Amino acid sequence: MLMAPAYTSSVYRPGIFDGKVVFCTGGAGTICRRQTEALVILGANAAILGRKKEVTENAAAEIQKLRSGSSVIGISADVRDISSLQEAVDRTVKELGRIDFVICGAAGNFISDFKHLSANAFKTVIDIDLLGSFNTVKAATSELIRNKGSVIMVSATLHYYGVQFQSHVGAAKAGVDALSNALAVELGPFGVRFNCIAPGPIDETEGLTRLLPSGAKKQVTKAVPLQRLGSVNDIADATVFLFSEAASFITGSISVVDGGAWHTGQMQALHYPESVLNSDQLWNKKSAKL
Ligand code: COA
Repeated sequence: MLMAPAYTSSVYRPGIFDGKVVFCTGGAGTICRRQTEALVILGANAAILGRKKEVTENAAAEIQKLRSGSSVIGISADVRDISSLQEAVDRTVKELGRIDFVICGAAGNFISDFKHLSANAFKTVIDIDLLGSFNTVKAATSELIRNKGSVIMVSATLHYYGVQFQSHVGAAKAGVDALSNALAVELGPFGVRFNCIAPGPIDETEGLTRLLPSGAKKQVTKAVPLQRLGSVNDIADATVFLFSEAASFITGSISVVDGGAWHTGQMQALHYPESVLNSDQLWNKKSAKL
């Protein structure tokens, strides 16, 4: 049977996604890759999208090895470009037959204080995270309606309060939540569900490595009520649940998967206010750390 090392939870039954197809943007990245792996192991076929052709195709080939008989394709596309997404949807339907599940996971993130954040930098993150999620759903709408599908948008907890150096990401993710909620209402009568997953500090991800002040892992872990950082499997498990029949009455929700971290708010306040008052000295455009 299955239980490849990439997937650890045993509460889900093998084969629950037999015959289903997931379309996942950002699918070569750490979090979205594990989401896709879990679905493939449990029976789905998949198309993963990324900007880097070779990286995306290699990741698809590796994911496909997790379950014999599975089909996983890697497609190079930029979520900011609706026509490249439409082509990706068409190719997925041609090669895999249908789309049942959509994960809007492509995201752009970097640390920037407001003083050094150009209008184009702000727009870039809004375009990738928010417009990209819109474009992804737009391109896949007819498949979602035809198959009474389900969408998960990968959000964040950054916009639940003000977070220094993350104005661009917080604004984008607030928009993602709003988009998902509105689409849950508009497309619910067609049988399509929309939910967001808001990951907290997830260990061994590009995002956490970039956002966490050097040497602050221990301090951040202490601020998580459940006293550990999250793992990519935590996000995959929530994804499996939300796409499964067990969640068939859940739409328009935001599942926070963060061990309770945002309630303590301590990660966001590290070194505050000195971090802000001294940001000119601290600032190094491409590799800023608090
Ligand atoms: N700090 C401040 N501004 C930044 C920046 C940073 N670290 N990185 C990019 N920008 C600005 C650029 O300077 C540019 O603005 P400008 O034209 O005014 O100079 C604007 O953002 C667009 O940057 P560019 O690199 O041309 O855009 P891109 O579309 O090629 O890439 C990202 C955008 C977000 C994907 C890119 O910054 C990136 O690779 N980030 C790291 C990877 C990532 O985000 N992964 C997701 C993990 S959560």
